[in-house]
Amino acid sequence: MTIELHTQLIDEERYPILCQSLRLHASLYYVFDDPIILDSEYDDLFRAVQALEAIHPDWVTPESPTQKVGGKIRDGLKSVTHERPMLSLPTKTKSTDAHAFHESVKKELGTDAVAYTAELKYDGLAISLKYEHNTLVRAATRGDGTTGEDVTLNALVIAGVPRTLTGNDLPEDIEVRGEVVMLRSDFQALNAAQQEAGKKAFVNPRNAAAGALRVLDPKITEARKLVFLGYTVLADDLESMGSTHSETMVWMKQQGFSTGEERRVVTGEKGMLEYYDHIATIRATLPYEIDGVVYKVDNFEDQEKLGFISREPRWAIAHKFPPERVLSKLLAIDIQVGRSGVQTPVARLEPTFVGGVFVSNATLHNFDGIKTKDVRVGDYVYIERSGDVIPAVVGPELSKRDPNSLAFSVPSACSCCGSALSQEDDEVAMFCTGGSICSAQSLGRLEHFVGRRMMELDGWGDKVLSALHDQLGITQ
Ligand code: IVH
Repeated sequence: MTIELHTQLIDEERYPILCQSLRLHASLYYVFDDPIILDSEYDDLFRAVQALEAIHPDWVTPESPTQKVGGKIRDGLKSVTHERPMLSLPTKTKSTDAHAFHESVKKELGTDAVAYTAELKYDGLAISLKYEHNTLVRAATRGDGTTGEDVTLNALVIAGVPRTLTGNDLPEDIEVRGEVVMLRSDFQALNAAQQEAGKKAFVNPRNAAAGALRVLDPKITEARKLVFLGYTVLADDLESMGSTHSETMVWMKQQGFSTGEERRVVTGEKGMLEYYDHIATIRATLPYEIDGVVYKVDNFEDQEKLGFISREPRWAIAHKFPPERVLSKLLAIDIQVGRSGVQTPVARLEPTFVGGVFVSNATLHNFDGIKTKDVRVGDYVYIERSGDVIPAVVGPELSKRDPNSLAFSVPSACSCCGSALSQEDDEVAMFCTGGSICSAQSLGRLEHFVGRRMMELDGWGDKVLSALHDQLGITQ
């Protein structure tokens, strides 16, 4: 990669471009120990900015990259230790698991007629809301279950989170837990706006919600329109709120918490499985994404008898849905080049609705997989999408294959720069050997740098990044 000093431009145009470039390279160098230009090139860039400032001293501000060498990683959110650990549910996928669960509950409680609350398993982000003397005093993400992040100010702007509770007989300390989600309609609108602004689309509502909640600026949370869906109340004494889970859910609703749709009290295994089937049929019509249902022994005394085992309740299970699978036509196999040079085959598909969103691209992971499954352009292929996983091609439907179709041939050169590909002996991945001459690699590194895992810079969508990439004079 070489650095472009834009000497053909007038000073007023050159200065902001060079400052932008200098800030970027200073951060890559000082903050991430990962420069993408030579030290000498960095020095040239620095001196070019200095020279312009010598001619136009009024342009120099304390923010100028010549005055502030290095960069700063944004301050993190404060950490919070949960008073009661945020545990998880035993997660099952088969109806026989519901049977086994009911059998163990029956055995422990000594009765066949067990009442369960059956409710949705929201696909969002767990959050704890702590109320003291009826006032919201702290909100925290789940984190690792013991320690989460303080998101109190952000929680204040989430729909379905009351700031105060009402009632004279309530315990002093109450904790309400639930999931923060983004409605599908808001997710689609957000992604449309992201695209319009040339910014990266979010993979799914859960990621978009997480990104909107775990930020320092509550205005971002507010703009992204998150919704809280409560599912647990905790207190030393729950009596004033109810003696069953379903009663406390009614209490929550009365207090102004949103509590989601489709909750039911059911009896026994038959009731649980009927609920599961019902939700599976209406899943796509729900306003938010779910990844299963949850069955909870309704009565608190019974819950107490059952207790916990290895940090999971014995009175509840999550019954997850299998990933959704649909058939779609494979229009083309494109090859993406990552920042490390890795070549990833991507399926371009006829847009197909799966798992609540239209999918037109899916990963084929690597060339070995395409060969083993014998996936061919023109095939009808099964697409699977589950939770936050990128949609994947499972394999072709051979009965629908065009007899004239051709097997995929593995490329020997990088799809971007044409350099030879390399493959380690035991690895399936293939890498471009072009290094810095491969513009897909350098663009990938820039994307990574401004992205959510590193600088989290706003306003750096695909268009802006490619423009900067071009301005930086990356050559092939
Ligand atoms: S109850 C003791 N109810 O699923 C655990 N969890 O591992 C009590 N979730 O991280 C959790 N919907 O965030 C419960 N209706 C629901 C839920 C739910 C989603 C999440 C929860 C937890 C994970 C289960």
